[in-house]
Amino acid sequence: MTIYYVNGSYQSRSKALISVEDRGFNFSDGVYEVIGFSKQKLLNFKKHTVRLKRSLNNLNISHPFKNFKSLELIISNLINLNSTENGFIYLQITRGSAKRNHLFPKNVSPNVVIFTFSNKDLKNLIKGVSVGISQDLRWLRCDIKSISLLPNLLEKQKASDKGFYEIWQSRNNQITEGSTSNAFIINTKNVIFTHPANNLILGGVTRDCVINIAKRNGFLVKEKSFTINDIQKCKEAFLTSTTVGVLPVIKIDKCIINKGKPGNITLKIMELYNKYLIKQIK
Ligand code: PDD
Repeated sequence: MTIYYVNGSYQSRSKALISVEDRGFNFSDGVYEVIGFSKQKLLNFKKHTVRLKRSLNNLNISHPFKNFKSLELIISNLINLNSTENGFIYLQITRGSAKRNHLFPKNVSPNVVIFTFSNKDLKNLIKGVSVGISQDLRWLRCDIKSISLLPNLLEKQKASDKGFYEIWQSRNNQITEGSTSNAFIINTKNVIFTHPANNLILGGVTRDCVINIAKRNGFLVKEKSFTINDIQKCKEAFLTSTTVGVLPVIKIDKCIINKGKPGNITLKIMELYNKYLIKQIK
């Protein structure tokens, strides 16, 4: 039986309930994190908590946990109760429950929901995925990990209907990021490009780790946006997210990348990132 954490207690699915007046439900007034775990150990936990704190502060939602050590304990208990070795945590915090009113209610406690989930098999995806290109329809605070994901959903669905795995969004002719991942290309001089971590993208935890790992291993990384024209000339491409790690991109719109095969630099970065995760569970 799957166990869910809801506002201080661990419940079965039928008892894991949230008010119909939850502001996340009514207004998407909340934030979330997706955190990986392996051998029951949380991966990149510190970086996720730094981003969570930032998202909460930006939306003026009060912090529901005494500190992040207590959050870690709550999550560890949940993983234990679910007897899951490897997987992901979905953590959602909304402003709380109150009569529907656009203005922030006074004296509400945030609603917290946490559950575990597992990912589909990555075996086929690591051979390389295709991505489409669409207009970035989102707001100008994509750096907040808000639960309001409608533009991401719409674009991802449209892409999926056309047979693409992911969609890379373009604003003013610059690729910002994917609908659920960060976007990277590598040019013919082996320079890795990705959009800077500003208000136009979600500063991905995987993105951040990959940039640091790549730099430490002698690769040149430029946090500079790239265009569709740059894509047409690029040598390799990949995307990053907590749920898939590093995935080679072998087709972007109609453009075949590296003859439809994962590139050598991408493969090296995948290997280095996996080693980096394994180190955290030893
Ligand atoms: N999505 N950009 C967007 C818009 C995302 O939704 C995500 C992750 C990322 C990558 O961030 P990270 O490396 O921290 O996972 C970038 C999660 C996994 C999701 O919504 O399920």
